[in-house]
Amino acid sequence: MYICICHAVTEKDIQKAVGKGASSVARLSELTLLGTQCGCCTEHANQVLNQCASKS
Ligand code: FES
Repeated sequence: MYICICHAVTEKDIQKAVGKGASSVARLSELTLLGTQCGCCTEHANQVLNQCASKS
């Protein structure tokens, strides 16, 4: 499922970024460009990030 439509970032892309050590939306933005256009996705991205973090 797409989390960031502007940059076509999926939930899987976020999971991969977390696997590479991303622990904040700011770091996710650096790795994937997520949230760097309209910014609508950052809250949802944060939820996905927290889910990934709680699983690992
Ligand atoms: Fe992510 Fe627009 S949906 S920056």
